[in-house]
Amino acid sequence: MKVLFVAGRWAQQLEEKEALQKLVDFDMIVPENQQQIAEKALEADIIITSYAIGEDVMKAAKNLKMIQVTSVGYENIDMDAAKKYGVAVCNVAEANADSVAELAFGLIIDLARRISAHDRLMRSGGWARVEFERQTEIHGKTLGIVGLGAIGSRMAQIGSLAFGMKVIACDPYITEERASQFNTKLVDMDTVFKDSDIVTVHVPLSKETTHLVNKRHFDLMKPTAIFISSARGPVVDEQALIATLKANKISGAGLDVFEVEPLPKDSPLRSLENVVVVPHIGSSWPTLEHMRKVAVDNVVRVAKGMEPLRVKNPEVYYSSPKWWPQ
Ligand code: DGY
Repeated sequence: MKVLFVAGRWAQQLEEKEALQKLVDFDMIVPENQQQIAEKALEADIIITSYAIGEDVMKAAKNLKMIQVTSVGYENIDMDAAKKYGVAVCNVAEANADSVAELAFGLIIDLARRISAHDRLMRSGGWARVEFERQTEIHGKTLGIVGLGAIGSRMAQIGSLAFGMKVIACDPYITEERASQFNTKLVDMDTVFKDSDIVTVHVPLSKETTHLVNKRHFDLMKPTAIFISSARGPVVDEQALIATLKANKISGAGLDVFEVEPLPKDSPLRSLENVVVVPHIGSSWPTLEHMRKVAVDNVVRVAKGMEPLRVKNPEVYYSSPKWWPQ
């Protein structure tokens, strides 16, 4: 079995690769361009990747039966092509849930107390309360969560248990019973935006969720509300958010993800005072290492003859002639 790891520079020292080297014909590249991935992938049975894989690679790699991403998001894998060529796609599911939830709470607290704004003021020699009328405690406030999966449910637990927040959420794939396990009441999406003091978004990017959050939702928000986005940029209509922030219609926004990354230098989000921006750092450094380990462990399972975990397209996996009969 041939396994190709298409890795970022930092993954080259990956300790877990030794486990794979003992089991499979293992190769690792840090690609300079897509062409290199396509060439190296030709013989691969499995690709482990943090890079995009499109139809060209899946068509050319005749033996390819599995793509294991090292992230939770897998929107950079062409799922239609995966279906067409019988390729199972696996992610690392909840491996970064704590890390992303902690960052989201960091952004919430920063905005509630204007920490970054005070930091900017003090670095320029000042000493004053910034936007004091917008500062607030988060204790007892209503936290609204869009998407109650692994990360959203961590948000609900932290919000309710650590900060005594009332938690409401919308998620068409979650039952009321499950939501109640996280002290959360299920409501519709409009109610999340209308009734919350803080709205935080935790849904994967797909055709269904592109611009899921748009002007209509921002218009429903309280003028004192905070908006947090740490899922994927295109889930939010960024222009609508910028217009909302420019017009000071909400208290502020904390953003870890953007429609275009890196965020263009001239984006208003880099200069608006009511925004805190960070460059897609939801997964902490140790978390990224853990995620790579989880990814490699899944491939080790397959190399040992076991079924892969966290298959995102089970209908493809269970019908693909590349997998069945074994
Ligand atoms: C993820 O795992 O999807 C994180 O956003 C890192 O890309």
